[in-house]
Amino acid sequence: MSVSGMALILFLTFHACMNVVALISAEGYNMICEFLGANWYAVAATLVLVALIVIHFVYALILTVQNRKARGSNRYAVTDKPSQVEWASQNMFVLGVIICLGLLLHLYNFWYNMMFAELAGTEGLYAPGDGFNYIKQTFSQPVFVVLYVIWLLAIWFHITHGFWSAIQTVGWSGHVWFKRWRVIGNIWVTVVMLLFLAVLVGFWLCPDCVGKLA
Ligand code: HEM
Repeated sequence: MSVSGMALILFLTFHACMNVVALISAEGYNMICEFLGANWYAVAATLVLVALIVIHFVYALILTVQNRKARGSNRYAVTDKPSQVEWASQNMFVLGVIICLGLLLHLYNFWYNMMFAELAGTEGLYAPGDGFNYIKQTFSQPVFVVLYVIWLLAIWFHITHGFWSAIQTVGWSGHVWFKRWRVIGNIWVTVVMLLFLAVLVGFWLCPDCVGKLA
């Protein structure tokens, strides 16, 4: 659970940093998209990513089933939940499902029109490497802006909990470091999510000024 989760956090960090390039330079961003197009290494990386997501999801299912079994049919002996039990920790699975639905939408918006189109030889609205225009077109529609904001929020809750839970699982936390990791994790995840948010708000509010800084 924790290793796949940490690898996914690393992927998200890279993905957010790359997306920020779209705010700065349309040409630079499309160069990255071409590089990460249907080349063998990019397809291989996508397969690794898919494997990580599947592993993460299967572990989550197993953990959820085990937890429910351990609690018996009466899921909570004490129904007043202790205040120190985080909301996110109790809802990791539900948040995970929202995240999966968002991911399906996201892959349809981008991956399907880009990598898949290139592999399958199909034609989308733009060239498969024209990530810049796909972002512009997607976030010109307020419904996608709203859905992506909800998605990012769910991801934020899911990972702020997941981050320190992963650190705890691999045993890097003493008393002091447990608290520190928690703060580091919260800052890290918040920055990554703000980078994603900056891209979608930038493209939504000012489609004509993004991508022209360099
Ligand atoms: C503003 C927010 C985001 C933008 C503009 C964005 C943009 C893109 C683009 C353009 C691609 C297609 C790359 C290609 O196929 O060549 C892509 C793929 C992808 N994105 Fe995002 N993304 C965003 C947020 C996210 C988030 C929050 C997640 C994860 C929860 C995510 C997960 C993925 C995955 C898994 C792929 C497929 C990667 C692959 O083909 O290997 N993205 N994204």
